[in-house]
Amino acid sequence: MKAIRGATTVERDNSDDITYAVKELLDRIVESNLIDKDEIVCILFSNTADLHSFYPAKAAREAGFVSCALFSSAEPQIDGALERCIRVMVLTECDRQPVHIYLNGAQNLRKDLTKKMTIAVDGPAGSGKSTVSKIIAKKFDILYLDTGAMYRACALACRECGADTSDGQSVANVLNKVDIDVRYENGTQLTLIDGKDVSAKIRTPEISMLASEVSAHEYVRKKMVDLQRKIAQKSSCILDGRDIGTNVLPDADYKFYLTASAEVRARRRNEENIIKGYVQPYSEVLDEIIRRDEQDKNRKFAPLCKADDAVEIITDNMEINQVVDFIINIIQRKI
Ligand code: DC
Repeated sequence: MKAIRGATTVERDNSDDITYAVKELLDRIVESNLIDKDEIVCILFSNTADLHSFYPAKAAREAGFVSCALFSSAEPQIDGALERCIRVMVLTECDRQPVHIYLNGAQNLRKDLTKKMTIAVDGPAGSGKSTVSKIIAKKFDILYLDTGAMYRACALACRECGADTSDGQSVANVLNKVDIDVRYENGTQLTLIDGKDVSAKIRTPEISMLASEVSAHEYVRKKMVDLQRKIAQKSSCILDGRDIGTNVLPDADYKFYLTASAEVRARRRNEENIIKGYVQPYSEVLDEIIRRDEQDKNRKFAPLCKADDAVEIITDNMEINQVVDFIINIIQRKI
């Protein structure tokens, strides 16, 4: 079940204006979310206390929304509230990421939804980027792109083809033969090689090291960055990686650089590995983290580094929810 939200405002409190505005809002919701009226389970309306002349639910019925449950309520009179505003929540069975619709004066209510927003989160392995980015994507209902997964898929493709990952030409030959892509299912990113889901296979410690190696080659970077930009231009999104703020999206609206000591990051990675069933001594994880940092920071093309305009967050002594709250506060202050 998905909840699609929306709101609109009317010029005057009369039945024609309310009927027109409700129809316009619902039609836009149906159109933008690629849903059928029959897939809607229920529509809930609320309107500001200054609208008396017509029930939005009745307007919805008249606009052809006849097979779903409808409900209207009036909001309390609140000083400073937007005038003559109708809010809606449409509950539907569709699985896709909801597209929320804010029209007319209501566009000011959710600038994060109506204006395209891009967030760049960079940092070394184990700094908490992906966990934090996933939560923020959910909170703002925007797309999350794990760019590291794409380099991991390149590494896996090279390993499966027996390519020499230290040799740029050998890696390029593989990437010319296979198709690396991502797809979303219920808002979750799946990473694909030739259409096959490899999301789980790319998470091994071996692939982590190989991904760091293959990502240093110019051809690999160009190919992956083109794809990342293509995905990012379609909708509001949060991308995490090593070069998002410096190279992939230099004009991102918000940039963050997460970091922590190698020891803390290795401890986190070790805990994750244990959960996934990869048994590896802590000292080995630490060694890999340090080697990966060195490779990622010292490569020639788009190395890992903080963008000048990124906010640095040192996460050693922070819980995930503290990092999330810190980032959301910064974003909401600027929206
Ligand atoms: O974030 P991760 O651990 O999944 O990334 C795996 C490797 O991919 C990382 O060591 C370096 C590379 N990478 C990159 O070069 N640029 C990115 N934007 C993301 C990852």
